[in-house]
Amino acid sequence: MPSKKMEKALNKQINAEMYSAYLYAAMGAHFDSENLDGFANWMKAQAHEEMTHAMKFYTYIVETGGRVVFEAIEKPPVNFGKPEKIFDEVLKHERKVTKLINGLVALARDENDYATENFLQWFVAEQVEEEATADDILQKVKMIGEHPNGLFMMNAQLGQRGAGAAQSGH
Ligand code: FEO
Repeated sequence: MPSKKMEKALNKQINAEMYSAYLYAAMGAHFDSENLDGFANWMKAQAHEEMTHAMKFYTYIVETGGRVVFEAIEKPPVNFGKPEKIFDEVLKHERKVTKLINGLVALARDENDYATENFLQWFVAEQVEEEATADDILQKVKMIGEHPNGLFMMNAQLGQRGAGAAQSGH
């Protein structure tokens, strides 16, 4: 059973994952307001995925005899800039989340909490994927720049990310 300190840290991560969901949903709303429905679709699928991350922590806390405690979720920004700036923010945000996950792993190791360390390994691998995906889209959006044709094609491509695909394995 995780220590109280570990339990508190895991609860804090629920809040961070839910904030990620909030942030990406807000980015989705921004893209919807710009009529970039494919970009909006990608963000909404991402928001959904972040909620599944939050609930993984929820389930683990419950399964190990802890108590889930929710805190207020910070308000995300309303207006975002161009796609390039937004995906730059996504990448920076994911790097921040990676640091949080690494911090949890360090704490689990410090406490010889092998079960929690093992549980966190899924997130360690997931963050590698999250950063790679954000970086991949950022590089593509950078290449497109202000070209409407490229943006149109990218919008169509990101529109193909289905809710089913977003859930698979995450
Ligand atoms: Fe749950 Fe995008 O990290």
